[in-house]
Amino acid sequence: MIHFLGIETSCDETAAAVVSSNGRVLSNIVYSQIADHAPFGGVVPEIASRAHVELLPGIVERALAEAGLDWAEIDGIAVTSEPGLASSLLVGVTAAKALASRLDRPLVAVNHIEAHLRSVFLGDSTLDPAAPTVALVVSGGHTCLIALAPDGAPRLLGQTLDDAAGEALDKGAKLMGLGYPGGPAIEAAAAGGDPHRIAFPRGGVTSAAESLDPGLCFSFSGLKTALRYHLRDHPEALAAEHRPHVAASYEEAVVSVLVERLEAALEKTGAPQAAAAGGVARNRRLRARLTEMAARRGVRLGLAAPEFCADNAAMVAAVAAAGHGRTVRPIAALEIRPSAPIGLDLP
Ligand code: KG4
Ligand code: ZN
Repeated sequence: MIHFLGIETSCDETAAAVVSSNGRVLSNIVYSQIADHAPFGGVVPEIASRAHVELLPGIVERALAEAGLDWAEIDGIAVTSEPGLASSLLVGVTAAKALASRLDRPLVAVNHIEAHLRSVFLGDSTLDPAAPTVALVVSGGHTCLIALAPDGAPRLLGQTLDDAAGEALDKGAKLMGLGYPGGPAIEAAAAGGDPHRIAFPRGGVTSAAESLDPGLCFSFSGLKTALRYHLRDHPEALAAEHRPHVAASYEEAVVSVLVERLEAALEKTGAPQAAAAGGVARNRRLRARLTEMAARRGVRLGLAAPEFCADNAAMVAAVAAAGHGRTVRPIAALEIRPSAPIGLDLP
């Protein structure tokens, strides 16, 4: 049995985890810096990197202790090296390089989006890893549809051309005065609301770069603008009796596009299996609508477990433990790639 230590510091979660080659998560320690950034309404890169520097050593030690292992039993180090905030990525990558050198173990560079993608196989997943899968990765920074072939190579099918779905929720929540992070705030405010009360735009895409299919791409910037105009034209919209309807309609606009595009990708690829991961995949309306859609189409659906949806290092270690990711030799050659997309495999 092989054990990988995973390190994740690409944004505002400081995380370390140990995962074994049979996919078992032995420990998964996440420190979310949300409270540190909340007063600013979003992630402040300088605060994030400083916190990573302070927190990471203790978190790595806890991950090792909870796994019940000592350093000699760690067979490799996996680290998120792309994409993400440069100053945040650097902290995890520097720590991983130091550990891999000191322990004389392989260093595996992991793409953050691929880690989210493969998180759908963690825990009690009912997915068949050998079946072609179309996955929706939805977070604060990313919204993409990815095809995963049985040979394991991820292929980007479509992505957002502007804001990520989580960003649309975060910005919408800010406009509604609901606080940060916006996804859970909108979900709570939408309770009891009528999701069809206000017809917010669904953001169709007519052309997309990089040979992506426009029918599988997303655009959320118009939605946020529509909300701004709605609030301007309806000053009563945030009153207690209207707010649940506004929040539910906004949430519905985001969720319905995500479900429609995933369904279109299933239709176009013929894949028998669908999945969703990333912070926004915690959303209950999204989970329910995806479950409905999958049942109607007769495809198997795997939703990442809530503890593996938000940023974590178990998903990073799991990529390496399953034999994916990029082993970097010599260790010192690993560099961060803050804006690398998935599927890009530069030397
Ligand atoms: O994956 P994640 O933790 O970090 C990134 O890689 O971005 O995702 C964070 C995003 C935020 O935009 C947050 O508002 C959203 O996920 N989010 C949710 C929920 N929980 C977190 N969105 C909708 N419903 C939720 N319950
Ligand atoms: Zn993420």
